[in-house]
Amino acid sequence: MNSLIEKIQLLKSEMEKEKVTDPPALEAFRIKYLGTKGLLKQLMGEMKNVAPENKKEAGVLLNEVKQFTEQYYQKAQDSISLNSGSALHSTLDVTLPGDPLPSGGRHPISIVQNKIINIFQRLGFAVAEGPEIEDDWHNFSALNLPEDHPARDMQDTFFISRNPDWMLRTHTSSVQIREMEKGRLPLRIICPGRVFRNETISARAHCFFNQVEGLYIAEQVSFADLKQTLYFFVKEMFGERVQIRFRPSYFPFTEPSAEMDISCLICGGKGCNVCKKTGWVEILGCGMVHPKVLENCGIDSRKYTGFAFGMGIERLTMLLYEVKDLRLFSENDLRFLQQFSSAL
Ligand code: DAH
Repeated sequence: MNSLIEKIQLLKSEMEKEKVTDPPALEAFRIKYLGTKGLLKQLMGEMKNVAPENKKEAGVLLNEVKQFTEQYYQKAQDSISLNSGSALHSTLDVTLPGDPLPSGGRHPISIVQNKIINIFQRLGFAVAEGPEIEDDWHNFSALNLPEDHPARDMQDTFFISRNPDWMLRTHTSSVQIREMEKGRLPLRIICPGRVFRNETISARAHCFFNQVEGLYIAEQVSFADLKQTLYFFVKEMFGERVQIRFRPSYFPFTEPSAEMDISCLICGGKGCNVCKKTGWVEILGCGMVHPKVLENCGIDSRKYTGFAFGMGIERLTMLLYEVKDLRLFSENDLRFLQQFSSAL
């Protein structure tokens, strides 16, 4: 049957015109001619219709063309891999330095937090941590916050809906309680950590931020110890020229209570926008631990006294680096983060 023989010859001449110069073309060639549904398979399928006297001729020819196609495919494959190999050799300079891996740096909040920890560690304070999800006792009650205290208001606190006794801690003062309850005295700790408040996010407020709490409980600790400790801290943190002042204040967990200001780092006390023209900026709250708080933790308030303080790390960082918007700390914009050295 001549027509199959003709078809085989046609296939061969068509195939020889194929330009197979890249891997996709090679694969297309394989599928078209050699694949399970390819042209060669089709022609083989037609063999059964060939008249017996032509069968031999057609079979031999088909075999030849099949071998030819396989060799053709093999050659094309070899030449493609050879070419890509030589292309590789001509463009790859193995002596070029590799792509540099960008090295990370510390977050400004971590830098300042580490600095604070470092200073207090030199005074013998140990680092203590507590859970971010707290119960009413550790976050409020034990700290002498009366039932009707505004800080308990739903506006300020994120409560856990599954259990109204649980909340995201609103301050790190809760860690004071946990440490005092352990009953190991004297106690000298700082507690860094994240705190949460139900605030509308703006340049000056956020729903989470970081604090460092300090606590010193021993026999005969006085307000003078508190002042001297914080004075040392400020000098180490901001430099010799910075001045401090205490203003009377109120916190339910301390008596007496105070807020501490430092002379404005930006204008040096002359008055600017940062210090609202007063020359002073508030950086922390502090006081002598309220006897009720000591008793709540099983500590004899006639034998022991102590001081505590709490400060916001974001606030200090903004002052130190003149950052104007609190939101920058949680946006993870590399253009912002890359401006801070990771010395500590
Ligand atoms: N817990 C207070 C706050 O979140 C800060 C504070 C004030 C902590 C006075 C203290 C303290 O330990 O004595 O605003």
